[in-house]
Amino acid sequence: MPTLKIDGLDVTVDAGTSVLEAARFLGLEIPTLCHEDGLEAYGGCRLCVVEVGQGDKSRLVSSCTYPAEDGLAVRTNTKRVARTRKMLIELLVSLVPSSKVLQDLAAKFGAQKSRFKPKHEDCILCGLCVRMCKEQMMSGAIEFVGRGQKRRITTPFDKKSELCRTCGGCMYICPVCTLRCQGPNAPTTVCGSCLTLEPTCIDHYDDYMCYLGPTGVCGTCVSEKKHKGGESGGDKELCHTANTTQQQRR
Ligand code: SF4
Ligand code: SF4
Ligand code: FES
Repeated sequence: MPTLKIDGLDVTVDAGTSVLEAARFLGLEIPTLCHEDGLEAYGGCRLCVVEVGQGDKSRLVSSCTYPAEDGLAVRTNTKRVARTRKMLIELLVSLVPSSKVLQDLAAKFGAQKSRFKPKHEDCILCGLCVRMCKEQMMSGAIEFVGRGQKRRITTPFDKKSELCRTCGGCMYICPVCTLRCQGPNAPTTVCGSCLTLEPTCIDHYDDYMCYLGPTGVCGTCVSEKKHKGGESGGDKELCHTANTTQQQRR
């Protein structure tokens, strides 16, 4: 049974335990996205990043796939970890800005601005649906195909699979196809959890966006304007949403 140190706390765990499981046993919070209890660890999103080792020899690893080894020193919230985690969240949220799961992560970890252009993809290739289908639903109707930028999830030969029992397990677990933000004029009542009266800036600015909450409140666009030498008080002109909101309230 290996004994390791996580954030200065000693913990002894069963052989085969991951660093993530050991940290959770101690009550430490490490964000995850492609990990789900009951499914095999995949290590695809890297969001569960932690720092192992000391000094110059320390390195970043995915805690969900890294085994808890005897004598291992783990730090779950160093500046390096926080910086990497935030960058990963920015990247993920720019891939699918309408995902509430990703937007919630952005809000929780203080990512108010993304340095990546919004892509509006349908999938972040976390592989949860594939593992859910195979390991919990015992079906195996879907799989990864292709490599690199062509990598995607599909059924064999892109045809309706006879193995699929339409159980919905894959949709239930998908972090980007469940709880899609439908914007301020949602056509259905399915979503309603994160609707605000304010539209986001995403349609108006190419390279950054506001996350959650009334747009303009975060101040990102206002400080951008100041940064670019704009006049103070120019937020009315700059932030489309602030203007819209003010008009709605008049
Ligand atoms: S709906 Fe079909 S593809 Fe999705 S988990 Fe169920 S069996 Fe698998
Ligand atoms: S469809 Fe959803 S669950 Fe499946 S890999 Fe893509 S993002 Fe993950
Ligand atoms: S949760 Fe560990 S890599 Fe995704």
